[in-house]
Amino acid sequence: MNKTTSGNSLLDISDYYIPLDLSVVFGNKNNFVLEIGFGDGDFLIEMAQRYPEKNFLGIEIKTKRFKIAVKKAKNEKNGNIKFLHMNANIAAEEIFTKNTFSQVYINFPDPWPKDRHHKHRIVNTEFLQKLSKIMKADAILEIASDHKDYVIHSLDVFNEITFFKSKYPSPEYLHNVPNRLHTKYEKEFRKEGREIFYLMFTNNK
Ligand SMILES: C[S@@+](CC[C@H](N)C(=O)[O-])C[C@H]1O[C@@H](n2cnc3c(N)ncnc32)[C@H](O)[C@@H]1O
Repeated sequence: MNKTTSGNSLLDISDYYIPLDLSVVFGNKNNFVLEIGFGDGDFLIEMAQRYPEKNFLGIEIKTKRFKIAVKKAKNEKNGNIKFLHMNANIAAEEIFTKNTFSQVYINFPDPWPKDRHHKHRIVNTEFLQKLSKIMKADAILEIASDHKDYVIHSLDVFNEITFFKSKYPSPEYLHNVPNRLHTKYEKEFRKEGREIFYLMFTNNK
């Protein structure tokens, strides 16, 4: 896949100075929304169509999924969606200018259910610190998951830090958020009748 065959949604960071000034990438200063681990890209593409007044950037580590999303967005005409093929841990630390994003979504992060794999979970103090820095003050972080153990683990992490504050009262999650678009994984989990957990935090830095 190269720049000429992928439409204009593929973000090649070698074209820009680092840290990235997203107003240069998108050509405007509208709000920047980040999705981490976008999978096949459906959620981000539909969000970009629903909110043409915002800019949407997705990061996905898996090559196959990244390519599928770029292909799906090939004919998007709004110019408000970009896909970055990268590890979000590296991107959050090294690529973005501080205070960039007004909203961040982590939809159905890999749950890493085995105890010895918990260290791979993306919701951890170190990653949240990086995220907080690239988010604006009072920016919103939303997480959705079908995995109760992951949700409880995440809430424990959030309760140990001071720089994100839950928007939801105890137990700090909802099972339904009206008008929220459903991701590909979410549609499958809902078909299976699984309970979905939605978390929302403000950046309290
Ligand atoms: C369970 S899937 C969910 C996909 C999509 N968000 C959805 O809900 O349909 C988790 C996604 O996160 C991606 N991912 C995991 N770790 C990542 C990382 N460090 N950086 C970027 N993407 C990551 C995976 O490759 C995978 O596509």
